[in-house]
Amino acid sequence: MTKIAVNLPAVPARSYEITIGRGILAAAASELADAGWARRWAVVTDANVAGLHLGTVLAALRRAGVSAESFVVPAGEAHKTLPAAADLAARLLEGAFDRTCGILALGGGVVGDFAAFVASIFMRGIPVVQMPTTLLAQVDASVGGKTGVDVPQAKNVLGTFWQPHAVFSDLALLDTLPVREWTSGCAEIVKYGVIAEPPLLDGARGLRQREPAVVADLVARSCRIKAAIVAADERDAGRRRVLNFGHTIGHAIEAESGYTILHGEAVAMGMVCAARLSHRRGHLAAVACTAVERALAEVGLATVIPPFLRADDLLQRVARDKKKAGDAVAFVLVTALGEPVIASDVTEAEIRAVLQDVTA
Ligand code: GLY
Repeated sequence: MTKIAVNLPAVPARSYEITIGRGILAAAASELADAGWARRWAVVTDANVAGLHLGTVLAALRRAGVSAESFVVPAGEAHKTLPAAADLAARLLEGAFDRTCGILALGGGVVGDFAAFVASIFMRGIPVVQMPTTLLAQVDASVGGKTGVDVPQAKNVLGTFWQPHAVFSDLALLDTLPVREWTSGCAEIVKYGVIAEPPLLDGARGLRQREPAVVADLVARSCRIKAAIVAADERDAGRRRVLNFGHTIGHAIEAESGYTILHGEAVAMGMVCAARLSHRRGHLAAVACTAVERALAEVGLATVIPPFLRADDLLQRVARDKKKAGDAVAFVLVTALGEPVIASDVTEAEIRAVLQDVTA
């Protein structure tokens, strides 16, 4: 079992730990029982995860003497909305949950964002604990306190920063993850290799084969990197933006595909674009650019944009995001592996050229 501290210098009392290991549910439950953060816990999960893991989690909590009830919400991004948040709040009230209670978010990134958002506003804020069940959520979404719901125009427009009291990442919960979801999560690990710790890229093959020791090591190292970045910039005002490497074009690909391309799959393509753009600008050596693409391919991710996505449409989406951000969208490039820089002068012509280059 590995413990990683997320230190928040602004308010040290809000610092917390990420616990990572295989079969840690009993330890997590007894930590919840001992910590006394809440009198009762609402275990918020979606219909898919409920079928797989809810019974095991509730049993572990009950064995440890933790008072817990489940609240199952419909699965999928389409249900990560303000009306759904109000509906969950109403159900919590009906169940006599009050400010002495907490929420345990059991699920992937959607459940984590949604449940933590409700925790941040219910009775003006109650504790949340994250128990992520996808690789993507274990290495990224569960750490750092970003919460949110979507509006019809865009994702995560309504949200808060609400740090969890703890994150419990049980690697055994990943055993049921379908291949595509697994591979999608691998993209964020490759990202940490590119922006922070290049040796992470060496684990790509073991990650694809889900070798337990490799997975445990890479999840922990990814969380350590994210914890350090969040500690340096909790509110996403500067350094934390490097976590968006590959995401500017990745988000455009994800949305333009109608979300048929998963987040990590789209970010992988976005990372190829960002690496090649870094190379074209004379920042990144060709050999490093190839190493990024090789690592992505080794975990099983596509490194080309499918031809049904047109460069013009992707460019329009990037431009729309740029406009929303007041023309100062941060494009993360790398000057070498492990050396990210934020560029705000990337031109449309550069993006068009790289999109054409990367499209199959
Ligand atoms: N997933 C990016 C962040 O937490 O800032």
